[in-house]
Amino acid sequence: MTEPINISDSKHKILILGPQGSGKGTQAQLLAEKLGLPALSMGQLLRDEVCSESILGQKIKDIIDQGELVSDDIALDVLKIRIQKQDAEDGYILDGYPRNLAQYQTFKNFDVPTALIVITVPKEETLKRLLKRAEIEGRSDDNKETILKRLDIYHQDTEPIIEEYRKIGIVKEIDGIGTVEEVASRICQVLNI
Ligand code: AP5
Repeated sequence: MTEPINISDSKHKILILGPQGSGKGTQAQLLAEKLGLPALSMGQLLRDEVCSESILGQKIKDIIDQGELVSDDIALDVLKIRIQKQDAEDGYILDGYPRNLAQYQTFKNFDVPTALIVITVPKEETLKRLLKRAEIEGRSDDNKETILKRLDIYHQDTEPIIEEYRKIGIVKEIDGIGTVEEVASRICQVLNI
């Protein structure tokens, strides 16, 4: 068991990363409710832009459907608009950003996170969860080929930034296997809340 991070005296700006299907969106939502903060999901913010049927939304849809990351400029523009809203003034739970070294560098000049929760789940389990979600929700990027591409991008582009955050001592790794409640309880334990 690693030492908990004491976040009680600061604004909670908590990032959650993990491979696709690790439950980062699910856990961000639960943690946000517990702390009374907004849950900002980068993927959901982009899907909302797609739903708006703007020209930008159409461009984003094509990229998401291919399992690629949208450009760093688009991701930052969409995030900035959301993060600057009043409800995020006292903090937020942000999942899915930053996802590569360029986004990490940009975010570094923009805000300072208090903790990074990394949820670990083996590939077989993420595949199982996302293929099940495909049957229920029909998300356009939940097919085997696209999921595998998204996982490759996670290993190649996102894992290196976890190492950067490790250097400043804010990373807490959480085992993502178990029920949603069990994983949520592990997160609360390492955050000392
Ligand atoms: P995004 O929406 O972030 O998708 P993702 O990274 O592929 O993650 P998922 O939503 O698939 O998984 P999750 O880890 O959030 O798990 P969840 O809680 O949903 O991004 C989508 C796309 O947007 C990207 O591919 C990219 O194109 C673009 N994008 C996003 N961020 C970007 C960025 N920073 N820069 C550029 N482009 C970006 O759970 C998954 C399933 O598992 C659910 O059905 C859930 O009910 C289930 N589940 C959760 N926890 C458990 C559990 N403990 N046990 C069993 N089932 C569980």
